[in-house]
Amino acid sequence: MKHPLSNSFGKNRVTTEQREQLVRSVFKRVAPRYDLMNDLMSMGVHRLWKWRFCREVDKASGRDFVDLAGGTGDIASALQKSDRALLIIDPSEPMMQVARQRLGSHCHYIAGSAENIPLQDNSVDVLTISFGIRNVTDISASLQEITRVLKPGGHFYCLEFSTPQAWLRPFYDSWSRIVIPRLGALVAGHPDAYSYLIESIRQFPAQQEMQQLIENAGLQRVSYSNLSFGIACIHRAQKPPIE
Ligand SMILES: C[S@@+](CC[C@H](N)C(=O)[O-])C[C@H]1O[C@@H](n2cnc3c(N)ncnc32)[C@H](O)[C@@H]1O
Repeated sequence: MKHPLSNSFGKNRVTTEQREQLVRSVFKRVAPRYDLMNDLMSMGVHRLWKWRFCREVDKASGRDFVDLAGGTGDIASALQKSDRALLIIDPSEPMMQVARQRLGSHCHYIAGSAENIPLQDNSVDVLTISFGIRNVTDISASLQEITRVLKPGGHFYCLEFSTPQAWLRPFYDSWSRIVIPRLGALVAGHPDAYSYLIESIRQFPAQQEMQQLIENAGLQRVSYSNLSFGIACIHRAQKPPIE
């Protein structure tokens, strides 16, 4: 069964096809200011989360790394190593254009979506997705695709917003409802795009529910670690090795 996010855009009910188009138009519009907005909205904290995430991913062995929903290349640039083949997959050409300017030929780029990953079965050692999975139209189908392309024993890491601890929610809600759309209007010129991003965070499955969805997709050794009291969360899992 599809998660309710599949049929919502902000506070509106939409078809999955409409959602896909609307999400694509959000990232087309915000691409030039995306990195600056991330710094402002999170007061720079997203850099710490990404640093912690990449430090963990770095421990996984393998050569073929894929950063799904790789956007402007933050994660791929932190994971660059001479003995790794890095590939960014993202449906948004304008987002990947920023990544190309940063990373050039140190990385490969393919336009594609998480629901239909343009890679062969059992071909990826390590797959990361950072602040990407809440934008897909079908979380379960995307997780099944991730399982399909991972090699047996391959590793999956997901960094995403999650559900903060109860004491923090009033501050967090005020920040996201009042401050972020205004920043989106002032800096990026697109308050509606940032209202969508906030609403998608609010509707995204909480830690335990996401863990269950990952398990349902056939991955094992599933666990998570909260960041900043659950504002964000690292989920990790492994494809079962061949016995
Ligand atoms: C919030 S940005 C995250 C970019 C980058 N991973 C980061 O951490 O800064 C979300 C990205 O998800 C991409 N995206 C949207 N829908 C997607 C889908 N169905 N499959 C894969 N990526 C998608 C967008 O184009 C965008 O680049």
